[in-house]
Amino acid sequence: MGEQPLTRNIRPNAEPLWLAEYEKAGGYESVRKALRTMAPQEVQKLVTDSGLRGRGGAGFPTGRKWSFVPMGPDAPRPKYLVVNADEMEPGTFKDRLLLEGDPHQMIEGMIVSAYAIQANVGYIFLRWEYRLAAERLRKAIAEARSHVYLGRHILGSDFCFELYLHTSAGRYICGEETALLNALEGKRAIPRSKPPFPQVVGLWGKPTIVQNVETLCNIPHIIVHGAEWYRGLARGKDGGTKIYGVSGKVKRPGAWELPMGTPIREILEEHAGGMRDGFAFRGLLPGGASTALLVDEHLDLPMDFESIPRGGSRMGTGTMIVLDDRACPVGFAQNLEHFFAQESCGWCTPCWEGLSWTERILQNLEDGQGRMEDIDLLAAHTKLIGPGRTFCALAPGAMDPLQSILKYCRADFERHIHEKRCPRVAGAPA
Ligand SMILES: Cc1cc2nc3c(=O)[nH]c(=O)nc-3n(C[C@H](O)[C@H](O)[C@H](O)COP(=O)(O)O)c2cc1C
Ligand code: SF4
Repeated sequence: MGEQPLTRNIRPNAEPLWLAEYEKAGGYESVRKALRTMAPQEVQKLVTDSGLRGRGGAGFPTGRKWSFVPMGPDAPRPKYLVVNADEMEPGTFKDRLLLEGDPHQMIEGMIVSAYAIQANVGYIFLRWEYRLAAERLRKAIAEARSHVYLGRHILGSDFCFELYLHTSAGRYICGEETALLNALEGKRAIPRSKPPFPQVVGLWGKPTIVQNVETLCNIPHIIVHGAEWYRGLARGKDGGTKIYGVSGKVKRPGAWELPMGTPIREILEEHAGGMRDGFAFRGLLPGGASTALLVDEHLDLPMDFESIPRGGSRMGTGTMIVLDDRACPVGFAQNLEHFFAQESCGWCTPCWEGLSWTERILQNLEDGQGRMEDIDLLAAHTKLIGPGRTFCALAPGAMDPLQSILKYCRADFERHIHEKRCPRVAGAPA
């Protein structure tokens, strides 16, 4: 299966390694190495050379993002590092695995990343429902502080870093990085306009890096083993390993750390065990609910940021939701749009009005009250609520599954209209 640096400490019962065991397994080695032997710019360069791309959904190169932070004696202070641990994307459960199973790994990644951008304060913005993760993070932070990995003059160096855990209000929009910053400041969680980008004007107006949990967990390994080793872990151009997940009617739903660029078919068949008996594959959303459906013809695509767009979708979070032949694609779309409509922050009209209208049309179709023109209306919505029409990516993200389901499952929509009911309701022949 290859090397699995991110999950190597995660035990079957998910009880994490506490500090002594973690150190014994090589933990905090990257902090020693970075603080004692590397300048912040060297850490930045190593991460850039590794090819690490953010694991929160957009896949932005991490080293490049850090390079936008003002450095040097004249840089504004304090600077902040914020971990995005909101993880509310439906179908996504990879960060939870890392937070609960190995909290010290992310704290270690945070210390080195903060050193690289010379941030002295860090926040973990944690999804409210992740109670066990909160408990374990609190304990790990206390352990790290008592062993001078956190606090003033870490390991006798000049570098000081304080870390705080913040449990969020529990809204999907809190995961959008600028809405997250507003929430952290105690304001309404609505996105901010960009530019200026948070790297320059972020939390309380100061330079801030917002980074996903999985992204940060990669950092210690890159520092200890180098950029070339990291690139070598992958099967494609994007470096490292990836925690892929599969949910739906497969034999073994779950999450696995595999080389970045592992083909979808391999993840689905070898790791998730293929479809359950009696269910056939119809398609999958490759990276959470806000990515476009891929079908049979795309199964040999490597799961990485470079390749998935060739099938018209996005890697997103790399956690797949499988649509089977017994589920109704119209109901599937309605369920997704219900979530997005409910989670709209209400700031812009196409999203606030458009998503609930979209949901109503889909519900009418499911209830057997759809009209042929509804299909065109839904298709028009996917354009009118698409990229560039709204303030943030929530609404265009909501339209990605819909436009692709309309494309690949049009006959199902037509059947709902002709038969004046959902063909898959209990008792109806599929
Ligand atoms: C509506 C919405 C929700 C998001 N939710 C999350 C989330 O829960 N976790 C996350 O890391 N990124 C989320 N993102 C992406 C973040 O805005 C940001 O790109 C990411 O945290 C950057 O980290 P990375 O570079 O390490 O990927 C979301 C984006 C949008 C538009
Ligand atoms: S697109 Fe939706 S979630 Fe994003 S700012 Fe507009 S109303 Fe809010």
